[in-house]
Amino acid sequence: MAPYQIRVFGDPVLKQVAKEITNVDDALVRLVDDMFETMYDAPGIGLAAPQVGVQKRLFVYDLGDEPGVLVNPVIKETDGEWLYEEGCLSVPGLSWEILRPNRVHLVGYDLDGNEIDLEVDELAGRLFQHEFDHLDGKLLLEHLDEDQRRDAMKILRDRAMAMPDVEPAPPKRRGLSLR
Ligand code: NI
Repeated sequence: MAPYQIRVFGDPVLKQVAKEITNVDDALVRLVDDMFETMYDAPGIGLAAPQVGVQKRLFVYDLGDEPGVLVNPVIKETDGEWLYEEGCLSVPGLSWEILRPNRVHLVGYDLDGNEIDLEVDELAGRLFQHEFDHLDGKLLLEHLDEDQRRDAMKILRDRAMAMPDVEPAPPKRRGLSLR
């Protein structure tokens, strides 16, 4: 079983801006390992920390050549346009043709603190823009056109209503417990 359950649309953690990473410790290395396992299990080609409920600026990816992790990524420049059918593990089962810049220049760090400088396009360019958005609390839904957005919201609303009732939270205790 995957170490994490991937957070889905509606979870407030997906709308929060993640925090810069200041220190790579054992816990962070373990987080990255667990994120890879969760991503491969899904399966997906990219996963950002907020998608597993962790408010840190990092994402993992694997486009089939070699797995990578990017810490504190910054997009320096984008260029061109590319239309591509894009999905997200946090909006499962849905995808839309979305127009975004084609080429991306981004920099970040690996887990050893080495600077990573990447210029990519097409699928890799799309992946990095998508994962970067997650760190700023944005989902691909924000890139839909008006018609796509209306359809998406209807589907997501219907899904939310079809969800089985969750067990009610235990009543809040008022005052002091005497035990
Ligand atoms: Ni996503």
